[in-house]
Amino acid sequence: MAETTTGTELPKGFRSAELGWPELHRIPHPPYRLPLLGDVIGASRRTPLQDSLKYASLGPVFRRNAFGKEFVFVWGARLVADLADESRFAKHVGLGVANLRPVAGDGLFTAYNHEPNWQLAHDVLAPGFSREAMAGYHTMMLSVAERLTDHWDRAAAAGRTVDVPGDMTKLTLETIARTGFGYDFGSFERSRPHPFVTAMVGTLTYAQRLNTVPGPLVPLLLRRAGRRNAADIERLNHIVDEVVRARRADGGGSGDLLDRMLDTAHPETGERLSAENVRRQVITFLVAGHETTSGALSFALHHLARHPRVAARARAEVERVWGDTAAPGYEQVAKLRYVRRVLDETLRLWPTAPAFAREAREDTVLAGEHPMLRGAWALVLTPLLHRDPEVWGPDTERFDPDRFEARAVRSRPPHVFKPFGTGARACIGRQFALHEATLVLGLLLRRYEFHADPAYRLKVTERLTLMPEGLRLRVERRPVRGRAVSDAPVGRAPQ
Ligand code: HEM
Repeated sequence: MAETTTGTELPKGFRSAELGWPELHRIPHPPYRLPLLGDVIGASRRTPLQDSLKYASLGPVFRRNAFGKEFVFVWGARLVADLADESRFAKHVGLGVANLRPVAGDGLFTAYNHEPNWQLAHDVLAPGFSREAMAGYHTMMLSVAERLTDHWDRAAAAGRTVDVPGDMTKLTLETIARTGFGYDFGSFERSRPHPFVTAMVGTLTYAQRLNTVPGPLVPLLLRRAGRRNAADIERLNHIVDEVVRARRADGGGSGDLLDRMLDTAHPETGERLSAENVRRQVITFLVAGHETTSGALSFALHHLARHPRVAARARAEVERVWGDTAAPGYEQVAKLRYVRRVLDETLRLWPTAPAFAREAREDTVLAGEHPMLRGAWALVLTPLLHRDPEVWGPDTERFDPDRFEARAVRSRPPHVFKPFGTGARACIGRQFALHEATLVLGLLLRRYEFHADPAYRLKVTERLTLMPEGLRLRVERRPVRGRAVSDAPVGRAPQ
């Protein structure tokens, strides 16, 4: 068995940009830098990502200093394309991702590139995301979506608004838990979020807060938060141990992700994941597998409610492609090209995992301009990359799914749209997320009209991921062609 790194290990030392960027002085920083404190004037601790977006006017690469730590941020398309060169750059486990090490250890998302468990887990788990595996999850995704529509039908009948992010979180948590782990969290039967979700939100928020407090002051300023975080981690461990115990008790599932984690040996080396590493992977997949998809669906519904013409066009496509089929088949989801463009445009404006870090594998020069020593790193700000006017034109705030029409996509250079990261460490769950989100949007568009509250102004909460805060919609049942989806016998979707 491959050795595992314990989950309680603290992140490795922070590498300040002065150590890796010999010509750092050429990279602009905000005015009014304060001695010792750095660029803290006007900085918000709750929304550090949206804060950084304010500095786009400094140029496609800029730096900020917080309490003596210097960070380089990159968003210009040409520079990001260079950082995507896998022969010279790799994922950097730093900032927020490194702060999750005590929770997720050397699980797939938080593993350092050199840790043997990354390759082992990647090779063992990748077949769980093959086309064939995805087709296998489809029926279960449909049946979870039906729980959501039952819930929304009741709200529509009673004239109540729906809590979009809350309900999308229930949906996506149930979907990954059931498809990947054969486990039912009973989210739709609860009036409050499942304790897994509360503990997850706690640990993500804490990991983000760690970035905004100087290291030596953490024990002082975050003492209570630290204790709460330890309790949250314990709760997460307890829940995943129960998921694993339940599987062991019923003697194996249907070849899902958990079966792969527990029983599958590496095809070449014969190695298996250790028990501790399985724990890390279960947490990783339960968290990474639902939080960002939930945000993507929530933002998409916000845009659809605000753009009735886009919604009407998407709805017309669903009716044309799905016809009277009560339970659309796997193949019928990929055919919803316009719905998929709605999702892409949503992830352009609000990529729900809004940054990823890259480090130099060797001494190199970024885009022929900025020397970097081996190990130097930069944070790519995806929401700004997705608004680079040189690529996306002057009106980048406008929501326009036609930006993802095939010809428009071909006319843009590569590496300008990166909601799922890049290279070997890009998102393993991309197809899973896109299939689930397209299916669910298709079902909701067909079944409901969405009515926005005209007084609502989009407010984005940050906990490493992004989520629209306080988004509620009024949903109105539409006459559904053929049988209602909820009348369909689940489990017999045509493949
Ligand atoms: C809209 C939904 C999603 C978005 C926007 C998203 C985004 C991302 C991004 C940006 C990364 C790279 C992070 C980095 O470079 O540090 C990543 C990695 C990852 N994602 Fe996702 N993700 C989504 C859904 C999912 C789902 C559904 C799963 C699992 C079922 C998943 C599992 C993972 C894992 C395990 C990694 C680490 C991969 C590795 O390093 O080998 N994600 N994701």
